[in-house]
Amino acid sequence: MGDQKTAALGTWANRWTFILAAAGSAIGLGNIWKFPFITGEYGGGAFVLVYLVCIALVGIPIMMAETVLGRHGRHSPIVTMRELARESDAGRGWSLVGWMGVLAGFLILSFYSVIAGWALAFTWDMGSGDLMGLTGEQVGAHFDALVANPMQLTFWHTIFMVLTALVIARGIHKGLENSVRVIMPLLFVLLIVLLGYSIVETDQFGRGFSFLFSFDFSKLTWEAVLAAMGHAFFTLSLGMGAIMAYGAYMPKSASIGSTVITVAVLDTVVALVAGLAIFPIVFANGMEPGAGPGLLFVSLPTAFGHMPGGQVFGVLFFVLVSLAALSSSISLIEPAVAWATERFSMSRLVATSLFSALVWLIGMGTVFSFNLWSGEEYQLFGMTVFELLDFVTANIMLPLGGLLIAIFAGWVMKRSVVYKELNLSLGRFNLWRALCRVIAPVCVFVIFVANLYKAIA
Ligand code: PHE
Ligand code: NA
Repeated sequence: MGDQKTAALGTWANRWTFILAAAGSAIGLGNIWKFPFITGEYGGGAFVLVYLVCIALVGIPIMMAETVLGRHGRHSPIVTMRELARESDAGRGWSLVGWMGVLAGFLILSFYSVIAGWALAFTWDMGSGDLMGLTGEQVGAHFDALVANPMQLTFWHTIFMVLTALVIARGIHKGLENSVRVIMPLLFVLLIVLLGYSIVETDQFGRGFSFLFSFDFSKLTWEAVLAAMGHAFFTLSLGMGAIMAYGAYMPKSASIGSTVITVAVLDTVVALVAGLAIFPIVFANGMEPGAGPGLLFVSLPTAFGHMPGGQVFGVLFFVLVSLAALSSSISLIEPAVAWATERFSMSRLVATSLFSALVWLIGMGTVFSFNLWSGEEYQLFGMTVFELLDFVTANIMLPLGGLLIAIFAGWVMKRSVVYKELNLSLGRFNLWRALCRVIAPVCVFVIFVANLYKAIA
């Protein structure tokens, strides 16, 4: 079982469709919610620089590697890893990369859905007009009341999981391509509008800009470096099989190098524009950049509340954030669904229902992290369930998965096979190969070891 070649998986219509799907997966809450708030927590500039270096030296080469694996294997990630290991005369153990990816996808989606639920809740609240004209402090109180209420969080978390399940059950081809084609440009335009507001109305743009781009290395700890690298994996959807699963549908004629670079650049630009739009608003309203996960949800509604047409823009913005989250969430569960349908000939509907229910249940841990289980007696290593899931997935599981993928593509697969898939000039291929075989693994390894050492010492 699972051995028959599934050319039946089908391919994307053309190169653009892969770009759209991969960009849909990459661009999400990671860019608009997580990037600003962790940048705020880790003090700005130096953190951003490390993140950008990680995108270039670690993220892009590994994203190319993951796409190569997917397109060459043409199966769901678990089966792809097993088949490619066999083809390369390596052990069956490599399929563990696929298994760990499925687990990481479940764990990430469990909290991703709760945060996307906040965006749904704010869509509703912006639409009601209740948030118009409020001060930052008042919006902050509104946010605190939302997260203090487990019933409300559960309600919106449930809605978001149902939406994810509906799209996944229909198959990712229908719906996804067109929605990404419309959502992503609109979201980008709206971020530009917000950026315009920050520049013209807050007179704190310079402060926001230098917060993001002036590099004060004295603040940089190994923990911040780990978080920056982890975020590079998280934001590019790397190390858990999402890109591998999408790569399986990529036509052979498309160039992996230029497609991957396009996606990575789009993702980075969206994150930076979001940061540039948010921080001036944060400073203008006397908020703390390190305020935590609520940063986006407090700063932007405050700005919308004082903007002409802000109510309409506000609703539209949170709808778009929810949709961007949706195009990421489906890629978090797709590797598992593709595996179950391939391995057990389970219908997509059954596989989706089963896995979504499981993820929904794990998500309750994140729901309670902000209220019933926020106390110290429910924490592990000083982290709530939500913080622990976020830390373990982004900072450990994804980099580890990515490290193994890089090693597999760089050292285990036959050079000639990879060379043919990438179809680059020899010089560029050798550059990629050096990054994939040595630079990227060494970076991940050193950052892991440094943090482990700090933790023990
Ligand atoms: N890249 C997505 C984001 O930035 C999150 C994600 C991580 C999606 C891993 C798929 C896999 O929001
Ligand atoms: Na992202």
